[in-house]
Amino acid sequence: GSVGKDGYRHYMEKELHEHPVVIGQTLQRLIDPATRRVVLPDLPFDLASVPRAVVTACGSAFYAGMIGRYWLEGIARLPVDIDVASEMRYRDPPLTPGGLGLLISQSGETADTLAALRGMRARQQHIVSVLNVEQSTIARESDVVLGTVAGPEISVASTKAFTAQLSVLACLAIAAGRLRGTVSAEREQEMVAALLDLPSRASEVFDQAPAIREMAAVVANARDVLYLGRGSSFPVALEGALKLKEVSYIHAEAYAAGEMKHGPISLIDQTVPIVATVPSGPLFEKTVSNLQEARARGGRLLVFTDTKGAERLRGLAEIVVAIPTVDEFTSPVLQTIPVQMLAYEVALLKGTDVDQPRNLAKSVTVE
Ligand code: G6P
Repeated sequence: GSVGKDGYRHYMEKELHEHPVVIGQTLQRLIDPATRRVVLPDLPFDLASVPRAVVTACGSAFYAGMIGRYWLEGIARLPVDIDVASEMRYRDPPLTPGGLGLLISQSGETADTLAALRGMRARQQHIVSVLNVEQSTIARESDVVLGTVAGPEISVASTKAFTAQLSVLACLAIAAGRLRGTVSAEREQEMVAALLDLPSRASEVFDQAPAIREMAAVVANARDVLYLGRGSSFPVALEGALKLKEVSYIHAEAYAAGEMKHGPISLIDQTVPIVATVPSGPLFEKTVSNLQEARARGGRLLVFTDTKGAERLRGLAEIVVAIPTVDEFTSPVLQTIPVQMLAYEVALLKGTDVDQPRNLAKSVTVE
């Protein structure tokens, strides 16, 4: 291919370092620098009057969609249904015509996502796709394409496409909120400022590489790892567990932190490290008390937080990675980066084929 590794050992490492740039480039397309307002391409329907959104995708793109659900519900007060495309395509959900079918895909070629799109089209939904490859099958069958400006992603395990997808979904939620009267002009300015702050804050995440390597040394010796998060940090935990499985072949499972007591708590001992994403914000103390329960059962806690949450967690966790504190709304974007970096560092220690893990394909074009 024409894309080189620019001196990095793997494409995954190179692409991880592209997070700040792709977030910036993606936002640039959707935010007017003069007014600092979100400007979507012209839509052939009115976002203010869609009765609900149905979000579907596969793999990491699905987890981006889960974060998008928090935003569309919380910011735009839009009811959202979400499922993986391989389920959605056979679910036959009752949908009111004129709803929003929202697809997310890096490649634009995933067979299940395409089939789910056609199902939504048949149910008269407006099709909006968040795509990295804008010349793709899903693009051709969509009413509107919102591009992620991530550039070619070569590593089979997706990294930079994820934060680019989140950048688009955040802008979509803000625009929908404005049109639906749930986001004031003032709040839009604050949210846009928080988004535009992300590229520089994302660059600072890489300063945490030494602490992430310390975590990797613990995780690389484990057979099973439990990832925890609440709210919009739950999909971040899911993404972390997926990435770890994909590139290091270590079994990882992500749970909503509050659900731990209904099952995975029975697994906890010194041999099953717990990787938790706990940014400061309204759910911080709730998650901390879940971690205390885990700690009391002998669990080794490896925690991702921000500078504001770090102090509280230092006495509790074995390793704390504190990245910059940002607006609570944008924190899942930033928290994803160290979680993906951890998977990469573990894969290096395990000596796996990082860019081309066994049995996986970059784009799954068959069912
Ligand atoms: C494959 C890749 C994943 C990706 C998923 C969805 O499984 O290995 O990294 O998240 O497909 O791909 P898409 O191109 O639709 O985002």
